Amino acid sequence: EKFFSRSLDFQGKKVLITMGPTQEAIDPVRFISNHSSGKMGLAIANSFLKRGAEVYVVSGPISLKVDKNSFHWYDVKSAKDMYAAAHKLHGMMDICVFAAAVADYAPAEVAPEKIKKSDSELTFKMVKNVDIASELGKMKQPGQLHIGFALETENESENAKAKLDKKNFDLIVLNSMRDTGAGFQLDTNRVHIFQRSGKSISSDVATKDTIAELILDQIKLAPIWV
Ligand code: CTP
Ligand code: CA
Repeated sequence: EKFFSRSLDFQGKKVLITMGPTQEAIDPVRFISNHSSGKMGLAIANSFLKRGAEVYVVSGPISLKVDKNSFHWYDVKSAKDMYAAAHKLHGMMDICVFAAAVADYAPAEVAPEKIKKSDSELTFKMVKNVDIASELGKMKQPGQLHIGFALETENESENAKAKLDKKNFDLIVLNSMRDTGAGFQLDTNRVHIFQRSGKSISSDVATKDTIAELILDQIKLAPIWV
């Protein structure tokens, strides 16, 4: 009984996970994006699935092997599309995990035809994308948990804690670029997890699957849970 209830400790919970990069179109054949592989997000999605949750994934373009049938799976490209999909689902979720590496800016206009090379230089005007976590954070419902990620290269803890407040997260997972064995395309990661309460823990360098389990354990420690 004990084993059963622990292994399915998220049963009955609906979980939304944004993951992967976004792609912001420049013209019909080009885009701006980033190095996110989606590995950490997918590890979290799998972990929730294993522990009994009903998992809704809104994913930017990734090239990972995944059985999409195990999830409610929504493929998106741009930040705008990711927001639209996540916003639709948000209201019925118990837990939202914002693991996507959303492009902060997008080209102000998408050229309708392929931009031809010319003798002059090319400049773009970039406009700010919607901040998905912040916008949904304003709509957070009582009893709902929001989990964010932060990637920092300087003043890591301070910046992460500032994001926790600003985006109305209950918990934030800091990926440190300084830690060896942690990073975008790797299978391993090292994280620091900050709770709203001020408590924090640091992981060892471990596989993203192990880190995912740790993140779920920390989610269960959030005061809202009891
Ligand atoms: N996030 C989001 N939508 C965006 C930008 C970020 O939902 N347009 C989410 C990320 O998924 C992550 C958190 O916000 O959970 C922090 O992302 P990050 O890029 O570290 O923070 P920013 O607020 O974009 O600040 P900066 O990139 O300048 O550090
Ligand atoms: Ca950003």
